[in-house]
Amino acid sequence: MDIQYKTNVIPSIDQLINLFNDSEYFPIEDKSDRLRIVRMFAKANIVVSAWHGELLVGISRSLCDFEYCCYLSDLCVRNNYKGKQIGKQLVLITKETAGDKCKLILQSSPNALGFYSQIGMERIDSAFIFSRKY
Ligand SMILES: CC(C)(COP(=O)(O)OP(=O)(O)OC[C@H]1O[C@@H](n2cnc3c(N)ncnc32)[C@H](O)[C@@H]1OP(=O)(O)O)[C@@H](O)C(=O)NCCC(=O)NCCS
Repeated sequence: MDIQYKTNVIPSIDQLINLFNDSEYFPIEDKSDRLRIVRMFAKANIVVSAWHGELLVGISRSLCDFEYCCYLSDLCVRNNYKGKQIGKQLVLITKETAGDKCKLILQSSPNALGFYSQIGMERIDSAFIFSRKY
């Protein structure tokens, strides 16, 4: 399958919402808050997208200073395209774009813990969080 990866191309809000609805991943609770999603992507500085032709099939969204750290906030792959190494490629391209000076950090959802281990990430128990309110 010919999957094309693009860096820092922001898909349209309709393409993003269509992907979220078809990947069992929606980053915010209020799915009608399109403006919040638009702003999330406008302020991100590493966005890697995966495309099958014109169809957006996966996305990775991160915030990075390119000197020390990179936070990968959102990652998902369209249901019919899971298990084809697309998620792994999205993370690896993000890591490569961030560069060797950066640590790549993220918070996994419970069902993705095995995925991050499988692609070689180290699981740590020294992370802390102030959770968002909504
Ligand atoms: C998690 C997710 C991004 C993985 O993407 P994917 O394209 O299906 O995964 P890949 O095909 O790149 O998988 C890479 C490896 O991890 C394994 N893997 C994938 N998902 C896994 C899981 N949930 N648990 C354990 N292993 C997993 C694959 O079998 C593959 O192993 P291999 O290299 O030995 O063949 C995708 O399943 C998804 O979108 N899930 C819903 C949203 C989500 O949970 N996002 C993460 C939020 S933190």
